[in-house]
Amino acid sequence: MLITPRSASIGATVTQVDLYQPLSNHCFAGLLKALAEFKVLCFPKQTIDALELRNFSARFGSLQTLRSGQDKTGFPEVSVLSNVRQEGKFIGIPDAGQNWHTDMTYNRAVGYANALLAFQVPMRNGQPLGATEFCDTTAAYNDLPDALKEELATATAVHDLNFYWEFMRREKASPRAPLSEAERAAHPPSRHPIFLKHPVSGKYSIYVNPSFTTHIEGMPKDRSDAILKLLFDHVLKPQYRYTHQWAVGDLLIWDHLATWHNAIADYGPDEARLIKRCQIMADKIFDPEFVKTALSYAS
Ligand code: SIN
Repeated sequence: MLITPRSASIGATVTQVDLYQPLSNHCFAGLLKALAEFKVLCFPKQTIDALELRNFSARFGSLQTLRSGQDKTGFPEVSVLSNVRQEGKFIGIPDAGQNWHTDMTYNRAVGYANALLAFQVPMRNGQPLGATEFCDTTAAYNDLPDALKEELATATAVHDLNFYWEFMRREKASPRAPLSEAERAAHPPSRHPIFLKHPVSGKYSIYVNPSFTTHIEGMPKDRSDAILKLLFDHVLKPQYRYTHQWAVGDLLIWDHLATWHNAIADYGPDEARLIKRCQIMADKIFDPEFVKTALSYAS
């Protein structure tokens, strides 16, 4: 397995590994370390499908099961992100992730990583469309002024799924229906530290994001709004960004604990994009025994 960094801190390409085969403990240890270091890993030219995507993803943690957008191949942990329609209906979620965010911060049990596998990539004039952009929230944390790090060292922020859901309906003309009372009750707002310590790297990242974070707890609204704006503007600076241009067969895994991402909707309804996804929960990764055992196979 060869890991080639794309930049000093975010993005790497992993070659000489066939994900059709189960990962050895040694490879998994290398990937756990590489994911913590480079945050976004691309495995190009993989000839695999939902089963292998699921098995690969399940090494990193429990997988989320969504009720909508499921793959039809019989794996409830694999969802489809796509603008393709059959008989007038979308075959998957058409507008997932089309705003800067970190997945699942609205949950009490947060997400660790996303693993996406590309089947159709929209092309125009020979150029791929529908890229996914990332921000390195660890590098952004490192560059914050010490006074702000100290002020917010123990602060917590509130995250709310409905805040994002209504934003998508209002600002992005999303076809999604409003969340029902039952769905809202199942997803009450959650609270998390503003600065999160990574369980593998031990480094801190900025763990608030523009889609889900509504306010900082215990702070007057004006001050909370101002600090969140400052943090959002800071993370979005060009030096923390990395853009992944998709190719068919790319498997991309990224670390939610140290990134934001944004799916760019620059393709039309007749330019097909089809990606299968597993969302990996941050359960095993916050278990020190799991990390210790996994990393013991590294050398
Ligand atoms: C997501 O936010 O999980 C979707 C990202 C993408 O489709 O590029």
